[in-house]
Amino acid sequence: MCGIIAAIAQRDIVEILLEGLRRLEYRGYDSAGLTVINESGHAIRLRRLGKVQKLVEAVEHLSLVGGTGIAHTRWATHGQPSEVNAHPHISKHIIIAHNGIIENHASLRVKLIEHGYEFVSETDSEVVAHLIHWEQQMQGGTLSEVVLRVIPQLQGAYGIVVMDSRDPSVLLAIRLGSPLVIGQGIRENFIASDELALLPVTRRFIYLEEGDIAEVRRGHIKILNQNGKPVQRFGIKSNVQYDANDKGHYSHYMHKEIYEQPIAIKNTLTGRLKQDKINLSELGDNFKMLLNQVEHIQIIACGTSYNSGMVSRYWFESLANMPCDVEIASEYRYRKPAVRRNSLFIVLSQSGETADTLEALRLSKKLDYLGSLAICNVESSSLVRESDLALMTKAGIEIGVASTKAFTAQLTVLLMLVVKLARLHGMAAITEYKIVQILKKLPTRIEQILTQEKTIQKLAEGFYDKNHAFFLGRGDQYPIAMEGALKLKEISYIHAEAYAAGELKHGPLALIDENIPVIVIAPNNQLLEKLKSNIEEVRTRGGLLYIFTDKDAGFKANEKIKIISLPYVEELIAPIFYILPLQLLSYHVGLIKGTNVDQPRNLAKSVTVE
Ligand code: M6R
Repeated sequence: MCGIIAAIAQRDIVEILLEGLRRLEYRGYDSAGLTVINESGHAIRLRRLGKVQKLVEAVEHLSLVGGTGIAHTRWATHGQPSEVNAHPHISKHIIIAHNGIIENHASLRVKLIEHGYEFVSETDSEVVAHLIHWEQQMQGGTLSEVVLRVIPQLQGAYGIVVMDSRDPSVLLAIRLGSPLVIGQGIRENFIASDELALLPVTRRFIYLEEGDIAEVRRGHIKILNQNGKPVQRFGIKSNVQYDANDKGHYSHYMHKEIYEQPIAIKNTLTGRLKQDKINLSELGDNFKMLLNQVEHIQIIACGTSYNSGMVSRYWFESLANMPCDVEIASEYRYRKPAVRRNSLFIVLSQSGETADTLEALRLSKKLDYLGSLAICNVESSSLVRESDLALMTKAGIEIGVASTKAFTAQLTVLLMLVVKLARLHGMAAITEYKIVQILKKLPTRIEQILTQEKTIQKLAEGFYDKNHAFFLGRGDQYPIAMEGALKLKEISYIHAEAYAAGELKHGPLALIDENIPVIVIAPNNQLLEKLKSNIEEVRTRGGLLYIFTDKDAGFKANEKIKIISLPYVEELIAPIFYILPLQLLSYHVGLIKGTNVDQPRNLAKSVTVE
């Protein structure tokens, strides 16, 4: 999604802005731009369609130097990717960069055209620049005063940075629905949509809250609420580790992150398995009381995080006998949900900034839930800050747009939570003991499966000329089929669909022929015989089968059936295990097809607009 970085300093900030943009690249974008007020007080704007590198090259030709500026990476929502639609947008001396969506842009545009403004872009964002300019002309006042009058006129969700080229001593940051953070320096300050962009210049951050307007000067930061009243926000020291160039010996972040899963899981388990018990004391005593009361779990998430919630539903119900519903955030937030009695609201998210998930959390606060728990990978995120409780996945920063290590870390946390709940609701101590032993082996099991990469790489060659694929699973492997299909479509652009294998004969079987690969996740469990019947349905219709299974599951390979025999894994953790070969498969199909594996087209890492 769009990214913003802005700086106000005594030194030249051009390289800081460009480095910030490089660090925001992972979020996904289609164009980049910056405006810097140069030493002569002129606002110089440069924008380029495509990669940040193109902007860097354009800047090099200009020898641009300045102490106040805004830069942006745009992920198109309104108006196609183009130089003219790229940010910053300018209205005379007012310069803005905007993340999010202005929903009433069309009516504002009509009004502003009537006032004589000429629009040069198709974006919703340009109205913000003109509106600020118009308000300033009409009623005057400081930039904050003008912005305070403009905010009530804007509908939507946004993070905006504003600069007035006539007064380079101040930048204005507005947060309403899209995250913004202020990086504090010594007699210099910065604003960004993601703290990662600012790590080369500071580690001290103020996370703006919803409705905050920050007046950022070199030596002073003043934060106001929407009524213009000063509010206090404290700076926090961040320990986040990030090195944009550090892919190690890997060619892609996705590949590196697949291989980081053993350590991500180890870190996620560390401190939480004590004396052969699951220890979530980090949640405090109240949590235990809350768990005692829980009669229902409501999970809300998007994309890969939704798929991990779907796996956990099988665990909540089978291990803890706890009714559990899982729903996509973008649906949940717009219906009128009937809340079950004593229901705990769980939000799952890698980034903690997914707009739909955040809004669902906000809605839950108005409803009759026992409380909210975020399972998240980013400690400083809005989701963590706004939830009553949080359990962190310790996967480390995930840069690849395709989520891999965050997914398996989420499943690890969810399994621990299920066991904790199950113990309070009657699970025997010996069962908890056995599960802890299994969890301890999980990082090793993951390492073992990664040794199969060569086999999977070979397999990927068969997908080069394919346009469609099916993924089948049953039970807790059905959501793994969903996640496998999601990975394949986002990385390789092959249309992939997941089905609960028993559902095949209710429609999709009509599509099976020798051109469609059917990937089956078939561990040796109590559903194997049922699954074998579904596999037979595909085989007799000439389908091309790829079966990921145990050595002793009894499948025989032939020209139309490829068997991928995987090492032993305990049934309970099989979902965490079986996604690994599917991640590797998507990665290698993506490589063969020559896609941009780390930043697939049209996608963004952190989906901060709805
Ligand atoms: O940061 P979140 O977990 O909330 O993100 C949710 C989805 O946008 C995300 O999982 C998306 O589906 C990934 N690109 C999938 O690989």
